[in-house]
Amino acid sequence: MRGILFVLLFLLLGSSLLFAAGGVKKKRPRAYDYGRVVINNFSTSSGLSPVAFDHWTHRSKYTCRLCHVDIAFEMKANATEISAADNMQGYYCGSCHNGISRYRDQPIFASCDPAKKKTDAARCQRCHLSEKDPQRKKDFYAFSKKLPSERFGNKISWEQAEARGLIKLIDYLEGISVKQIAMPIQKDFAINAKVEGIPDIIFSHRKHTDWNGCETCHPDIFVGVKKGSTKYTMIDIFAGKYCGVCHGSVAFPLKGCQRCHTEQP
Ligand code: HEC
Ligand code: HEC
Ligand code: HEC
Ligand code: HEC
Ligand code: HEC
Ligand code: HEC
Repeated sequence: MRGILFVLLFLLLGSSLLFAAGGVKKKRPRAYDYGRVVINNFSTSSGLSPVAFDHWTHRSKYTCRLCHVDIAFEMKANATEISAADNMQGYYCGSCHNGISRYRDQPIFASCDPAKKKTDAARCQRCHLSEKDPQRKKDFYAFSKKLPSERFGNKISWEQAEARGLIKLIDYLEGISVKQIAMPIQKDFAINAKVEGIPDIIFSHRKHTDWNGCETCHPDIFVGVKKGSTKYTMIDIFAGKYCGVCHGSVAFPLKGCQRCHTEQP
């Protein structure tokens, strides 16, 4: 009974908070579209289609840290301002997509080459996606079928997939990453929701560090020198700050209240 009450409370609060945060109710993205970033600072103006980058294909192979710290992609759509020249010189997408680097012994297809727009059109279109690509959708279903499922987002339990060794993430790229000194991992801790009846949150430093390292969160998202030093509320999170930087666009979405609010009072 108490459980049902919490669910009802969550649903009520959830929708009112969503609107309070100024959110217009958006159509829920399809499982295969969740985590897609459309990059278009320069493509359309160069007569090409915008680039569609899918997180699922990439996060099943590499850690967040590798891309967002070592390769230095911003965690905000279009903020990196990637150019064709950057890619051709081996930065950003070109760190991997250069026709030489390998993944599982297969060379990874190369990125931009404006001189060969006509002859290499098929390759250009793998990223500069002109229309819906039924192959990407098929690939997604074939891939996700083998993994533990979840209700929201990509409908894949990424956490379980990793814990059970069904995906193995690469965290180091020759020539780009530097060998790191392992930082001591902080203890898991409870975050008090401060509202009666709302279950507290258990935050796992260890699990987050597996994917994110330390630098994706500290100091940009959380100063993190001392627990409690960053003040924020659920409204901030719904607005895409703090936990909401990742939970809402790439990691499981905020709809899954109970995924975070787990500690029954
Ligand atoms: C292969 C590289 C790669 C990996 C791995 C990766 N990302 Fe990203 N991520 C990107 C790129 C590229 C962008 C878009 C940057 C831009 O447009 O400037 C992005 C954007 C984002 C954004 C902003 C999305 C938006 O809609 O504004 C978030 C949040 C994010 N990533 C989180 C993550 C998390 C969490 C993980 C690990 C689970 C992860 N990323 C793994 C490359 C990667
Ligand atoms: C850390 C390495 C890495 C980085 C960085 C990276 N990719 Fe990939 N990407 C891969 C690998 C590996 C594959 C799968 C191998 C293949 O298909 O050749 C892949 C596949 C793809 C695919 C084909 C998947 C599909 O669903 O059709 C697209 C499109 C793509 N990447 C776009 C991008 C874009 C755009 C960027 C930069 C914003 C980028 N990638 C950055 C490693 C990377
Ligand atoms: C691995 C993914 C990938 C592939 C393959 C790819 N591009 Fe790009 N390209 C990008 C990304 C990411 C951008 C930045 C998009 C933006 O902001 O509009 C970009 C931007 C561009 C631009 C914009 C102008 C500029 O100077 O930055 C041109 C022109 C371009 N690419 C040409 C090509 C051509 C021609 C091909 C095929 C030979 C190609 N690209 C293949 C990822 C790719
Ligand atoms: C997903 C984001 C995330 C990642 C990744 C992460 N942290 Fe944190 N860290 C937090 C949050 C949230 C807090 C609490 C901040 C607050 O309450 O102001 C915190 C707090 C801390 C604190 C203060 C602890 C205390 O008890 O006062 C330290 C030290 C810390 N982190 C170190 C690390 C180190 C070292 C790593 C990598 C091994 C790491 N963090 C990875 C989110 C993260
Ligand atoms: C830098 C990105 C990032 C930030 C910031 C972040 N997370 Fe996560 N979190 C992830 C990723 C990636 C996963 C793996 C599961 C997934 O992708 O759906 C995850 C998983 C979790 C899980 C499930 C794992 C577990 O411990 O059982 C919880 C709960 C969670 N996050 C809570 C939080 C809370 C609370 C905050 C803010 C204090 C937060 N996260 C901030 C990226 C992030
Ligand atoms: C990614 C993890 C995460 C998810 C998912 C999540 N929350 Fe929270 N929530 C938090 C954190 C962290 C706090 C604590 C903020 C603080 O320190 O006050 C919080 C606090 C709250 C509070 C206390 C008041 C406030 O504004 O801080 C309420 C109410 C709440 N959440 C409701 C919800 C509802 C309803 C949902 C689902 C629609 C939800 N939360 C989903 C992490 C999450």
